[in-house]
Amino acid sequence: MRKTLLAMTGLAVLSLAVGTAVPGVAHADEVEVLHWWTSGGEAAALGVLKKDLEGKGITWLDMPVAGGGGTQAMTVLRARVSSGNPPTAVQMLGFDILDWAEQGVVADLNETATAGGWDAVVPAALQNFSKYDGKWIAAPVNVHSTNWIWANKAVLDQVGVAPPTDWDGLIAALDKIKAAGLVALAHGGQPWQDATIFDSVVLTTGGPDFYKKSMIELDPEALGSDTMKTVFDRMAQLRSYVDPNFPGRDWNLASAMVIKGEAGMQIMGDWAKGEFINAGKKPGTDFVCFRFPGTQGSVTFNSDQFVMFEVGEERRAAQVELANAIMSPDFQSAFNVVKGSVPARTDVSDAAFDDCGKKAMLDLKEAAASDQLMGSMAHGHSAPASVKNAMYDVITNHFNGGIASSEEAVTQLVAAVAAAQ
Ligand code: BGC
Repeated sequence: MRKTLLAMTGLAVLSLAVGTAVPGVAHADEVEVLHWWTSGGEAAALGVLKKDLEGKGITWLDMPVAGGGGTQAMTVLRARVSSGNPPTAVQMLGFDILDWAEQGVVADLNETATAGGWDAVVPAALQNFSKYDGKWIAAPVNVHSTNWIWANKAVLDQVGVAPPTDWDGLIAALDKIKAAGLVALAHGGQPWQDATIFDSVVLTTGGPDFYKKSMIELDPEALGSDTMKTVFDRMAQLRSYVDPNFPGRDWNLASAMVIKGEAGMQIMGDWAKGEFINAGKKPGTDFVCFRFPGTQGSVTFNSDQFVMFEVGEERRAAQVELANAIMSPDFQSAFNVVKGSVPARTDVSDAAFDDCGKKAMLDLKEAAASDQLMGSMAHGHSAPASVKNAMYDVITNHFNGGIASSEEAVTQLVAAVAAAQ
């Protein structure tokens, strides 16, 4: 059975029923925003939003909760809603948005969305998560994608490899970097990072139809197939290119290893670009971005959306201002240039974006047109959190050698996904 968020927090139902928002936490001209943008690049992007709001006379009350993928942030949010004191807005991904909407605790943005014409400019794939019961409940700030590799250009030149275009080419490139005495693959051993690699390995191994069947439709046959065994074999193979200090490492520290030339590449969503840019590095000169080999033409996306919570009349005007600021085309350009993502609106020019950003925008458009735009499992856009977390457990356990074989990993994956639904 699908586990609902508030089932874990019975108290919340009580406090909401009596409408007990604790007054005085955020005032009329303030917005309190819960997010997990704590790395250098993320903080720089967030600064663009804060500045925009300050210009409108709105004060930003920051509520950062570190942890990519937002797992810890969602735990903190549950506690806040339970105590009847939700933040004004919360950074959120995919199915988590719908789960919260189902609890009846989010605000209705329909009036301002209609006035702003959001329906016409936000792609359907995003609207699936921005709306609940036909009503807008979230403002999408970007579109990221997970099937990317970020490589140090000098390292690639030193070992004489061009960006690979298929799995064998990737392995050959990693071998050369390793042979040169460098860390071939910069990685942080955290479940969401292991799962981020998994997105791409599923896609390159089985193709888009297999990705849809296994990660989105959760088809037991696809999850238990020989193709999925190969996926786990390949995860184990990638594990052999990671340095011994990888457990627990934050993703941005892995990016820093590539930035400094200690490591060759990192498999990571395009928020990694924010770290390179923040370090003053230029695409094409200092680093190279390319689609995970064998996934060209497809995009596994995730969109950061700001979900507005029911906060009471006195805080409502600032909340609506925040939503409108996020949806402004100029803001979407300025913010996403820094963040590494692309705009959530289709009517924003790519003029201000670097080559990686331009490619991301084009890839997104083409993938959507050819039905190869698919939600990222690792970042909550392919299945609800209960299923995602069940997958995380098996993927991470296997990556760390806790599951003896790919056969056993596949058996556990099928069972874990079934139990989580
Ligand atoms: C978010 C990104 C964020 C990344 C790492 C992803 O889930 O969508 O905005 O930069 O996590 O924190």
